[in-house]
Amino acid sequence: MHVKLSVNGQAHALDVEPRTTLLDTLRDTLKLTGAHAGCEHGVCGACTVLVDGVAVRSCLMFAPQAEGSTITTVEGVTPGPGELSPIQDAFCETHGMQCGYCTPAMVLVAHALLADNPAPTREEIVEAISGNICRCTGYAQIVEAIALAAERLRGSNRPVGA
Ligand code: FES
Ligand code: FES
Repeated sequence: MHVKLSVNGQAHALDVEPRTTLLDTLRDTLKLTGAHAGCEHGVCGACTVLVDGVAVRSCLMFAPQAEGSTITTVEGVTPGPGELSPIQDAFCETHGMQCGYCTPAMVLVAHALLADNPAPTREEIVEAISGNICRCTGYAQIVEAIALAAERLRGSNRPVGA
């Protein structure tokens, strides 16, 4: 099937088999390996990307279902090569990652949350990441990272990702 997608600001026209997941399309065809394959059946959240601004498990979506969509992967949130977004920076500063396997998805969930809610409560942050499994951190530093990023983004009066 022919599928047109915008990924991280770049237009792509791809030929895929109907059974191809969005996750495999991003990783194997577009070489955007920040979307991680964990369980591949919708449980862990490691494959999360933003589809039209909404956090979506890309292992559960077929590429043709994303026809015409605007997709953001973790590679698309950095201001420039070698630079970190304010959210990524906060994850580093608070030790919000250890092995890093869950981290791209956590960062994207945080981007979606803060785009909608610039001043989330701790409970709202916990709720936002509740679908994403982290085997390493115990989650406390991840919540701290998102709260720190929210505070900084409010202070700088910048939209998420800027
Ligand atoms: S790899 Fe998609 S939810 Fe686990
Ligand atoms: S940092 Fe290792 S799974 Fe989250």
